[in-house]
Amino acid sequence: MTIFSASIFTLLFLGAHLILCSCCEDGWTEHSGHCYYVEQGKMTFDDAQCACNANDAYLVKLDNQAETDFVTGLLKDTFWIGTRRACVGGDSNIWLMIHDLTEATFTSWSPHEPNNSGGNENCVEIRTSNLWNDLECSDELKSVCERGK
Ligand code: BGC
Ligand code: CA
Repeated sequence: MTIFSASIFTLLFLGAHLILCSCCEDGWTEHSGHCYYVEQGKMTFDDAQCACNANDAYLVKLDNQAETDFVTGLLKDTFWIGTRRACVGGDSNIWLMIHDLTEATFTSWSPHEPNNSGGNENCVEIRTSNLWNDLECSDELKSVCERGK
């Protein structure tokens, strides 16, 4: 094999690898063009977001049921998602995706939630039922980070 044909072969191999591989780092799992990481350490919502940011990621932005099904399949516990109440203190029922501060168009609340129990539930957890609950942001939970491939 000439050096030329060996180079072509290598380029084709690398190209196919880029197209076909999941391309997520070790410890991250690919789904629909994004990479996800389960943080098993329990943290406040803000600390969980900071920990994601430190890995060039953000608390998971759940856009639809398929993504929810995938992410809830990664761990069997409650965890923070990247959604929180807008206008904290104003008791709004507007929920923002903290990644891009757009309003959450997909939601999946548990029955009777969000109830703002105690008046300070401004962050969102996913329960083991895979449904959402508003919860105080100072509670300490596991979390899932997301980033592009
Ligand atoms: C309630 C939730 C609330 C949580 C606070 C639960 O019993 O159902 O609405 O967020 O307690 O810990
Ligand atoms: Ca609640």
